[in-house]
Amino acid sequence: MSQVEALAAAILEDHVGGPAARCVLALSAARARVSFDALQGADIARLTAEIDRALEVILHDREMRVSCVQKVFGLLRSSAREEGLDAKSETVAIRTEADVLSARSMGRQIAQGIGFSASAEVQVVTAISELARNIVVYAGQGEIRIAVLDGSRRGIEIVAQDRGPGISNVDEILSGKYRSKTGLGMGLRGTRSLMDEFELATSERTGTRITARKFLR
Ligand SMILES: Nc1ncnc2c1ncn2[C@@H]1O[C@H](COP(=O)(O)OP(=O)(O)OP(=O)(O)O)[C@@H](O)[C@H]1O
Ligand SMILES: [Mg+2]
Repeated sequence: MSQVEALAAAILEDHVGGPAARCVLALSAARARVSFDALQGADIARLTAEIDRALEVILHDREMRVSCVQKVFGLLRSSAREEGLDAKSETVAIRTEADVLSARSMGRQIAQGIGFSASAEVQVVTAISELARNIVVYAGQGEIRIAVLDGSRRGIEIVAQDRGPGISNVDEILSGKYRSKTGLGMGLRGTRSLMDEFELATSERTGTRITARKFLR
């Protein structure tokens, strides 16, 4: 067992006991297809999401589970940081619905770490969901970068970027006149209203880049 895995097991052990802790970690690593010995930035989101999923079955107290996953996430991030990865932001490649869940989970962990309230956390996670799902559905693939803002105003920044076909009718969509064929057409408008800042750059040639920020009150 690697040192990181042993430390993660020690965190989980307090809540679920030793054998279950080791089992959860082994199962989650296999499902996320990662090795504790060689964790890369993007692995951490997948692995954390899988640990959360595995714990759901055995640790029913939601608050306890959230704090447990948060601690493991902090550990994984700091161990990846020692490997020289960027500490302030995490990028999740988006191609499938599973990637949407990874991005959600990453966003949840980061939002909790910053100290967002439970309701603000839900808003951030919802925004990430909408942007990530749009990438899957309309662009095929892209990425979501989630960054901690720790300047004069503390908060979180989400950058959703793809090289898809671009959005030709942005004004119509953001003004609410647009009626989506497939969805409610509320994803972009909803995201804008959930977040404090919203910037959209799109063209047929370069694809779409949406930057959304939310600050701590
Ligand atoms: N990343 C993207 N690339 C290309 N087109 C996009 C992208 N994101 C959104 N669009 C276009 O903008 C429209 C509005 O997106 P929005 O997320 O607001 O609504 P929706 O996806 O149609 O429905 P909902 O999100 O409510 O299920 C989409 O129907 C789609 O045509
Ligand atoms: Mg949408």
